[in-house]
Amino acid sequence: MAEQEKTPLVDIRHLKKYFNISTGMFSSKPLKAVDDVSFTIKKGETLGLVGESGCGKTTVGRTILQLYKPTGGEIIYDGKPVRTAKDLAAFRTKATMVFQDPYSSLNPRMTVADIIAEPLDVHNLCKTKEERRERVLQLMDYVGLNSEHASRYAHEFSGGQRQRIGIARSLAVNPEFIVCDEPVSALDVSIQAQVINMFDELQDKLGLTYLFIAHDLLVVRHISDRIAVMYLGKMVELAEARDIYDHPLHPYSKSLISSVPVPDPKVARANQRIVLKGDIPSPLNAPSGCPFRTRCQYATDACAQSMPEFKEVKPGHFVACHRTEEIN
Ligand SMILES: Nc1ncnc2c1ncn2[C@@H]1O[C@H](COP(=O)(O)OP(=O)(O)O)[C@@H](O)[C@H]1O
Ligand code: SF4
Ligand SMILES: [Mg+2]
Repeated sequence: MAEQEKTPLVDIRHLKKYFNISTGMFSSKPLKAVDDVSFTIKKGETLGLVGESGCGKTTVGRTILQLYKPTGGEIIYDGKPVRTAKDLAAFRTKATMVFQDPYSSLNPRMTVADIIAEPLDVHNLCKTKEERRERVLQLMDYVGLNSEHASRYAHEFSGGQRQRIGIARSLAVNPEFIVCDEPVSALDVSIQAQVINMFDELQDKLGLTYLFIAHDLLVVRHISDRIAVMYLGKMVELAEARDIYDHPLHPYSKSLISSVPVPDPKVARANQRIVLKGDIPSPLNAPSGCPFRTRCQYATDACAQSMPEFKEVKPGHFVACHRTEEIN
């Protein structure tokens, strides 16, 4: 990435989102979907966010955009905290989300043009019908849809094309920052690469900044500048994409990387796959201390006593593990 500014565009500090789950007629318990997560994203950068299903990735994205009210922490955008309703309204014109499921996120009875123009209408961004039409065609062009598609209905399109429609709609407000929530997970593998390339090209063309969520490390590999790994609501590792792939330091990241297929058979043989024991615990009954300890081959008694601090062990490389030095 070329010249980057010192102040991050997105600065997330100690973000928490707890859901109150009823455990009986008169009792409830907090489900800590996101528990004290901090990271920054520079302008023009892509931060990949990975982890198994249920670890809190979508909740991070939705809470940043305040589609969920944060339980705690602070969202600082372009140097300014997003606190009041006025801050939030301004933030929402600069930050948006692309959803995972292109089938349920588009109204099948609306035309493509009306779907894409909806945010333009809501935010009153076009003065005349002609301006609105021009803008819709421009947005369609950005995502590789041609103008004949404008009057057709969403249900007539394939998953990949629907995802393009969804992306065009997200671009309508001229956002700077987009949370891409597993935007290719529901698509055929054969078209995933095309859609990822489109995100890449749009980023260059429009100077976008992405939080790119995926459960599959292969998906984020090429698009991400840095990668963050989550486990049970916590961030366990964050580093440059290459460092995460070549030198993962956290035992959980090591197991994730070891399951990524390697094209070269010699390298593949040398890389032993680490299969984790047991299942991911429920966030309602998270283990004491390190959340990964029930599945970690390096766990000691100390790991049950306290939550390891998420700390910088090398410049730009953060890990939450008591034993980083001993096991690497
Ligand atoms: N609206 C909600 N109400 C209650 N629990 C939720 C809600 N959304 C997510 N969760 C729970 O929070 C945890 C994290 O979910 P999610 O953020 O969707 O994970 P991911 O996107 O990584 O699969 C899960 O245990 C999930 O069941
Ligand atoms: S703190 Fe302990 S249990 Fe957690 S990842 Fe490190 S070694 Fe494993
Ligand atoms: Mg999700």
